Amino acid sequence: MINREEKELPVGSSRRDFLKKSAALTAVAVIPAAIDTAAKQRLDEKYAYQLEQMPLSIEINGVQKKFKVDTRTTLLDLLREELHLTGTKKGCDHGQCGACTVHINGKRINACLTLAVMQNGNKITTIEGLANGDELHPMQKAFIKCDGFQCGYCTPGQIMSAVACIAEGHAKNEEEIKEFMSGNLCRCGAYNGIANAIKEVAQ
Ligand code: FES
Ligand code: FES
Repeated sequence: MINREEKELPVGSSRRDFLKKSAALTAVAVIPAAIDTAAKQRLDEKYAYQLEQMPLSIEINGVQKKFKVDTRTTLLDLLREELHLTGTKKGCDHGQCGACTVHINGKRINACLTLAVMQNGNKITTIEGLANGDELHPMQKAFIKCDGFQCGYCTPGQIMSAVACIAEGHAKNEEEIKEFMSGNLCRCGAYNGIANAIKEVAQ
């Protein structure tokens, strides 16, 4: 039985034409892919140095540390994944919740929003470095006393932020405390206890 296509093409040339057209179509599809791969390889080679590890020297909780770090690593991932300082929490990883708050040279910052390599030479304090040995920091004590937490996930970030809030002079009254602590979210809604703890320490 002859199908419709074979009837429309001259006998003997249909197979050759078909093969030629197929080869042309294959070339059209394959050549851009080959060009694409070569271009990608050239780009990878050109920017390979950016994916290398860079030396980093930082002081963490009073201890000087030196290591090499992937240039793409955030400070938060360095602390949690490489140094196992898991007290600093990852909430949103987008600078919206404050769970990752640490101090860099005494100033509060979201560790998820800064690259580790940008902190070369800086002093970093995490929640693990706040207490004085077995003696809790006054803010940690106040959080316990004032019921400033429930599940505790936001608490390290809240405490680091609270300490900095007072140091900045932004804890003169409840309204100011709420305003300057607004970057730290608490899904459990422990805000009243948090504000009371900060008021107590500020006094
Ligand atoms: Fe950094 Fe939410 S984890 S702000
Ligand atoms: Fe649970 Fe703040 S205590 S999120």
